[in-house]
Amino acid sequence: MTQTSNEKTGFLAEEENTGNQPHNNKLFIETVGCQMNLLDSELVVGALRQSGYELASDINEADTLLFNTCSVREHAEHKVYSQLGRIKFFKKDRPNLVIGVMGCMAQKDQKLIFKRAPHVDLVVGTGQLAEIPRLVQEARNDRKRKVAVSLGRKNGSKLEISSSFQSYDPLRDPEMRPSPYQAFVRIMIGCDKFCTYCVVPSTRGPEQSRPPSDIASEVKVLAGQGVKEVTLLGQTVNSYKHTENGKQYRLADLLELIHDTNGIDRIKFITSYPKDMGNDLLTTMRDLPKLSRYIHVPVQSGCNDVLKLMKRGYTVEEYLEMHDRIKEIMPDCAVSSDFIVGHPGETEEAFQKSLDIIRLCRFKNSFIFKYSPRPGTKAFDKLADDVPDKEKKRRNNIMLDLQNEISEEDNYHFIGKEVEVLVEGMSKTFIKKGLEPDSETQKVQLMGRTKCDRIVVFDGNRRLEGSLANIGIYDCTPTTLLGMIVTKEFQHGSEEGLPILH
Ligand code: SAH
Ligand code: SF4
Ligand code: F3S
Repeated sequence: MTQTSNEKTGFLAEEENTGNQPHNNKLFIETVGCQMNLLDSELVVGALRQSGYELASDINEADTLLFNTCSVREHAEHKVYSQLGRIKFFKKDRPNLVIGVMGCMAQKDQKLIFKRAPHVDLVVGTGQLAEIPRLVQEARNDRKRKVAVSLGRKNGSKLEISSSFQSYDPLRDPEMRPSPYQAFVRIMIGCDKFCTYCVVPSTRGPEQSRPPSDIASEVKVLAGQGVKEVTLLGQTVNSYKHTENGKQYRLADLLELIHDTNGIDRIKFITSYPKDMGNDLLTTMRDLPKLSRYIHVPVQSGCNDVLKLMKRGYTVEEYLEMHDRIKEIMPDCAVSSDFIVGHPGETEEAFQKSLDIIRLCRFKNSFIFKYSPRPGTKAFDKLADDVPDKEKKRRNNIMLDLQNEISEEDNYHFIGKEVEVLVEGMSKTFIKKGLEPDSETQKVQLMGRTKCDRIVVFDGNRRLEGSLANIGIYDCTPTTLLGMIVTKEFQHGSEEGLPILH
C-alpha cells in the first residue's frame, strides 16, 4: 500500500493490476439513505455528466457503477453489501468496469469494503465527493484502488477534522434533479449531538453551517431554473449558525434572507432538533407566507429513561412544551416524528409511553425504526441490545397501527375542505402502473402536497405540474388525501353555497 497524499485528510491509494481498457461512458448509480444522500447523488451525477458521462438505468449497460451508501441501520449496509455480492463476477467479462462505494458506509468501513468486496475500486467518503470524477478517471487509468475518506472524530483537532469533511455544493445541473420544480439545498453538514445510537456524527463529521450568501445564491440559481420549492437540509437544521459580515445568522435569519427569491413558492426544512426550536424560528415561519406549515422534529422515545440512555438532551416534558409552542404559534402546523423501538432499556412500560406521546402530539406521521446496534457508537459499546428482534417487530407494528389510525382520523378532517397544493407530478401509482393519459381529456393522476406536507392525489392535466392548484378533498387514507380540482364556482361559492367539484 502506498500513501499518495496528506495523511491528515486521509487520501490513500493501494496497488492493483490490469492495464487500461476501453470503456463506455455510461454511469449507473444506486442510492440508499436519507435526503442528504439523494442530494449527494444528484450532484455527483451532475459532475460526472460534465466530464462526459451519461446516466444509464441498467446496471449491465454501464462501465462505471457507483453505490451511494447509508450506515444508519445494519439493514441499509446489508443491502449494499448484497448488491456488491451480486456484481462480484461482473469484471470477468468486463474488466474495464470501475466500481465505487461512496457516502456514509464508505466513511465508516473504509478499507474493510475491499476485504468484503475485493472487486471494488473506489471508496469515497461523504467529505470527498468532489474528488469522484478525478478518482474514477485515475482508477480507470492506473487500475489502482483508491480510498478518499475524512478523519475519524478523535483523530485530530476540531479544525483538522472539520476541514477533512468538505461540503459538496457545486453548480447545479437542472437535468439531474428528480423533479424540475423541487430541489434540496444543503445548509449544514455533520452533527455534533452524538445521540448514543447514531453513526451520523462520525459518517458526516462535525456540524458545519454553509455561508448564508452561498445558500441564497444557490436558491436564486435554482429559482432561475424553474424550481418552485426548496427544502433546506441538515441533520439538525434548526441548529444552523453562521457569522457573515459581522452578522450572526440563525435559521430564522436565513429563511428571511431567501424568502423573497423570485419564483420560489414554498420553503421547507428538515430535520429539526427539539432542543433548538426557538420562538424566533416559529414566529418567523408563521410570518413568512412561503414557509410550509410543517416541522419534522423527531422525539425518538416517549420515556425519559430511554431518552437519557439515548443522550437526546431533553425530557418528554420539554418536548411536549416545545410541541405546545409550535401549536400555539401556528395552530395549523403539522408535526412529524421519528421513533426508535426496542432501544436498549426500552421496557414494555417505556414503549407504552412512546405510544402515549403519539396520542398526545397526534403526529402527522412518524417514521418508526427498530433499534439497530451500530459499531462505533456509544450504545453499541455500552448498552446491551436487550430487546429481541421479534419484540422489536411487535412494537413496530403496534406503533405503526396507532400512528396510521391517528393520521387517518386527522386526514378525515380535510374531507369537504379546499386545500392549496404544489403540483409535483404524476402520482406514484400512475407511474408504477405505467398508465397512459386519458385519450379524450389528456388527464393523468397527479400528486401534490399541501402547505402542511400532506399528500394529495387528484386527476388533472400535466400542464398543472409545478403550479399551485386548489383541490377539494372528498376522501382519505392514513397517508393520502383524495381530491378533485376545484372550479371557480367553488372558490367564490356556488349558488347554493355548496362546493362544486369536477
Ligand atoms: N438528524 C436526524 C435524524 C438522522 S437519522 C435527527 O436527529 O432526528 C434518521 C433516523 O434514523 C433517526 O431519527 C432515528 O430515528 C433513526 N436511527 C438512527 N440511528 C438508528 C439506529 N442505530 N437504529 C435504529 N434507528 C436509528
Ligand atoms: Fe444522529 Fe442525533 Fe445527530 Fe440526529 S441529532 S444525526 S439522531 S446524532
Ligand atoms: Fe444514512 Fe448517512 Fe443519511 S448514515 S441516514 S445516509 S446521513
